Amino acid sequence: MQADNREKEADHVAKSIHEPVLLQEVIGGLIEESESSGSKTSNIRYPISGPWYLDGTLGGAGHAIAIARALDGDMNVIGLDRDIQAIDRARIILPGSVNGKIVLECENFRNLDKVLETHGISSVDMILLDLGFSSDELESSERGFSFQRDEPLLMTMGDPHRHLFTARDIVNGWTEEDIANVIFGYGEERFARRIARAIVNYRAKKRVETTFELVEIVKMSVPGFYRRGKINPATKTFQALRIAVNDELNALKDGLKKGYEALNDGGRMGVISFHSLEDKIVKDFYKEKAIEGANIITKKPTIASDEERAVNPRSRSAKLRIIEKKFNEISNK
Ligand SMILES: C[S@@+](CC[C@H](N)C(=O)[O-])C[C@H]1O[C@@H](n2cnc3c(N)ncnc32)[C@H](O)[C@@H]1O
Repeated sequence: MQADNREKEADHVAKSIHEPVLLQEVIGGLIEESESSGSKTSNIRYPISGPWYLDGTLGGAGHAIAIARALDGDMNVIGLDRDIQAIDRARIILPGSVNGKIVLECENFRNLDKVLETHGISSVDMILLDLGFSSDELESSERGFSFQRDEPLLMTMGDPHRHLFTARDIVNGWTEEDIANVIFGYGEERFARRIARAIVNYRAKKRVETTFELVEIVKMSVPGFYRRGKINPATKTFQALRIAVNDELNALKDGLKKGYEALNDGGRMGVISFHSLEDKIVKDFYKEKAIEGANIITKKPTIASDEERAVNPRSRSAKLRIIEKKFNEISNK
């Protein structure tokens, strides 16, 4: 009876509704030989079993499990996520697919160097950063990521008890100009100034506490055509606040740098981004490393097929870029 309950609990914890994007493209790009590296056929590029795969954004572990399966389970995994629920789920589901070592930490990928050091791992062969948040977080975080749910306006990824700075602090505490700059800079929202003014007018009467209050403020401040458009007018404002609260762009810069440093010669790092600010950071970083000798595997970012776009709306804005580390002989002499 007790075992039954445990099984049910495991089943409940293990369920992820997140649909991984660009799955085949990630597998192909990280573990198979590509034409640009000289091979005409698609072969697994890790002849010895047991490469180390670092997943900096483990989420529902969809990519991690698919990569493990493609290698018949013969790999070691370091899985990071700042969401403890993702790590708890992975503890249950990953051992069934991975034969090698599994290291799981609730940690920001910007601190991946510390995790590697703690576990005595000197380098890795593959890295994946699949940015943003998962459908699981969107649906059940109760922290206000979605403008479709009436929730407290927090937007904190990770442990809410440790993370004291929230979206409420921005909208209720920052100056009109700073709010406008965040919404414009991180959301690329053309009506940022109007929205910031409306937030400040609203909060003169009452603090902005919930997602629906913010959605209403945005709706009332933008022109009618924008309100009636296909995309919810609050989309970019929500994106901007989330990026600011979680310092996402700086975390990405740190993660790219530390991830590349941790790669073995010939190792690959893939990044899936979902908006132009992230993609530009990845593109610029790869260009910088190409000057030092790295091989950019995706000359143009890989995007989802029509089939995937039709069934998984998240995939429509996804861009995958992959780089292969090469030690520059001149700079390493
Ligand atoms: C798009 S989901 C990843 C989905 C995953 N690839 C899969 O197949 O299920 C992004 C995940 O990364 C986590 N995340 C986002 N930024 C992070 C960061 N800087 N450090 C650690 N985890 C992060 C989120 O909590 C979320 O679980």
